[in-house]
Amino acid sequence: AEDKPLTGKKILVTAGPTREELDPVRYFTNHSSGKMGYAIAAVAKDLGADVTLVTGPTALPVPKGVTIENIISTKDMYEATMSRYHEQDVVIKCAAVADYTPVTVHSNKFKKKNDIWTIEMKKTIDILQSLGEKKEHQVLVGFAAETENLESYAKDKMVRKNLDMVVGNDVSKEGSGFGSDTNEIIIIKKDGSKKVLPILSKERAAHEILIEVMELMKR
Ligand code: PMT
Repeated sequence: AEDKPLTGKKILVTAGPTREELDPVRYFTNHSSGKMGYAIAAVAKDLGADVTLVTGPTALPVPKGVTIENIISTKDMYEATMSRYHEQDVVIKCAAVADYTPVTVHSNKFKKKNDIWTIEMKKTIDILQSLGEKKEHQVLVGFAAETENLESYAKDKMVRKNLDMVVGNDVSKEGSGFGSDTNEIIIIKKDGSKKVLPILSKERAAHEILIEVMELMKR
């Protein structure tokens, strides 16, 4: 049907933050609320897609009719995403994945001692990079959250990670990025075409992203 153009298509969206545990009471995370990723999942569902949402901890209700997979850590998100990759037509990586995780996870609460506490961190696995390396038929979409050089950094991520499309998100602008109900994005496709969008509700932004995904699926 015309109003359900994604009928029969399987789309996996990642959303929210990941959490990296340090001890039983402490963890590292970021400001992602999940709103952008949940909006993409909800709009994709409205357009007829079979949607799986792999999400870190958020305070949001599950969008109706969407299959939810709750995860905590980057490693969990990696496993949940990779194990479902083969069957997807589209993967959209909106999650704000923790880039570093503590080298040592303490099994008991770390007791206060010195004035300065130095914590050693190591890089987490780059999920998007792994998806790019193992890409078969899927349309792969990444996000780039930046505070400067948005377009060039976003393009660089698209090429380096073998993406079909990247959504550049200026997270330093008022009303854009983490936590807000609105977002200001640019969409860059691998053919070099670019769409610069004004500030929009995250739902409208999700719509714009999915219109470009449908464009890519036609090719
Ligand atoms: O959740 P909200 O409050 O609504 O906020 C929305 C948002 C700002 C989180 C969202 O619009 C956004 O920009 N998401 C991407 C955030 C991010 O982590 O960007 P990045 O530039 O650090 O990472 C680039 C890409 O690599 C992202 O697609 C990310 O999912 C992916 N990545 C990063 C690190 C890692 N270890 N694995 C990854 O897959």
